Amino acid sequence: MIELKLEVPNTNAFYMEVSSNLVDWVNRGGPFISPNESFSYKEAALNPTNRSNTADEFEKGILEGYRSGRVNGDVQGFTSRQGSQVFYIARPMAVKDPKCLDCHTTPEAAPTRQVELYGREGGYGWTMGEVVAAQMVYVPMSEAVRGNPRDLKLVIGALAAALGVAAIVGVVLLRRA
Ligand code: HEC
Repeated sequence: MIELKLEVPNTNAFYMEVSSNLVDWVNRGGPFISPNESFSYKEAALNPTNRSNTADEFEKGILEGYRSGRVNGDVQGFTSRQGSQVFYIARPMAVKDPKCLDCHTTPEAAPTRQVELYGREGGYGWTMGEVVAAQMVYVPMSEAVRGNPRDLKLVIGALAAALGVAAIVGVVLLRRA
């Protein structure tokens, strides 16, 4: 299941920069969505607006790599989550548009509805250029896929596409809100 931000309190088409990366992202990954695997998508952040986006220890490690500049671009590999082996792809999400700061600077500047829904604590104080989150997609690895590199390629494509889909849905929802 792809978990997306379904509750968006205000307008402002702000996922432009995500969608602009989308074309090459999908081109590289290809639109292979495997119906048998269940994805999960998360924007893992150290200082999230929505607490459920809080980075866990594993995600923190990845995010710190991005934030320190030690690591750039997509990272992929295997890890264990809740006792099962998963394959993941991570990519950095930075504040590239000053519009982001309308909502992520102070509660006073943010939309009232946002503050009502999410409170005054998290998701503020971000700065231009800061890598605020790692986009993460996870998919459980079946034995079959683990044993077969060709299947793994398909899964990588599917995960890449899932990130792209998440970005598109984000754009659409935000435009509509
Ligand atoms: C209209 C207000 C608004 C604008 C503009 C905005 N955001 Fe957000 N952002 C939010 C809200 C509200 C959430 C929490 C959504 C949820 O429930 O997951 C959020 C969540 C996020 C998250 C997930 C981590 C977290 O804080 O929960 C990231 C990453 C993020 N925004 C990045 C950006 C970027 C990058 C931009 C500019 C391209 C941007 N935002 C512009 C309101 C905004």
